[in-house]
Amino acid sequence: MEIITSIQEMQKRIQQLKSDGKTIGFVPTMGFLHEGHLTLVEKAREKADLVVMSIFVNPLQFGPNEDFDRYPRDIERDEKLASEANVDLLFYPTVDEMYKSKHTFKVTVQDKVNILCGSKRPGHFDGVATVLIKLFNIVQPTYAFFGMKDAQQVAIVSSLITEFNFPIELVPVETVREVDGLAKSSRNVYLTESERKEAVAISQSLKLAGRLIQGGEENPLEIQKRMETHIMEHTSAEIDYIEIYSFPDLKTVTSISGLVLIAVAIRFTNVRLIDNMTFDV
Ligand code: PAJ
Repeated sequence: MEIITSIQEMQKRIQQLKSDGKTIGFVPTMGFLHEGHLTLVEKAREKADLVVMSIFVNPLQFGPNEDFDRYPRDIERDEKLASEANVDLLFYPTVDEMYKSKHTFKVTVQDKVNILCGSKRPGHFDGVATVLIKLFNIVQPTYAFFGMKDAQQVAIVSSLITEFNFPIELVPVETVREVDGLAKSSRNVYLTESERKEAVAISQSLKLAGRLIQGGEENPLEIQKRMETHIMEHTSAEIDYIEIYSFPDLKTVTSISGLVLIAVAIRFTNVRLIDNMTFDV
């Protein structure tokens, strides 16, 4: 595995690979890799000639009171995992390298953003969009792989690719879970032992929603209420949101039909966790 930290070097390398006619599968990450990230790599391997992974904890997508400084980082471990997963090229720039030029422009996401994590984390998706525009231009991937764990991100990236005419195929990948159902996340390390046990209630509440839908429940408010009760009865966490939208356009639904996204965010002492499932009705 080749590790590149300079943008210029990366562009040179990509140009070479492209002129050799290679297809590129791109997996953007913020590191502290887990099986979720590595599954994206596996999917990229299946589809593309070469796999490029980026590791960059992007300051622009963290709010002033969020966890940028204490976001978990372990580049040595990440290098080993990426290399074992057969990543061909690891792009690992510094913050200075990515944002060294003065910001003349500001990217603003204006649709699909005032709901779910977007409403709880103002500016977050502007930061995600900014870094992805830069990374897409640097890496010029044929395919880009994103986890459905961050479903709102998938919906916004899909619009970004279309509206900015990137010749990239977006490949959404299903959420990878722990044995008990908890969605894998770099932030799970912040959970205390008892919170870790309680956290299973998040995916349980989503499965409960699935059973209700299967049983014919069409009222989103009823589903939200049942999920809320389940989480409140089984965890010490505070509920940030339980929301239901059509997917991928993220419009409010008054009745459950078509492809719907049910998404949850809850806050434990030191960590906010998100999860979701989609249901095709
Ligand atoms: P990060 O949280 O590191 O996630 C990188 C990719 O891994 C995202 O596409 C995310 O959805 C996916 N992922 C995380 N947990 C997953 C799981 N349990 N199963 C499947 N996929 C999972 O998302 C980001 O970084 C950043 O916003 C980024 C896109 C890199 C822009 O900075």
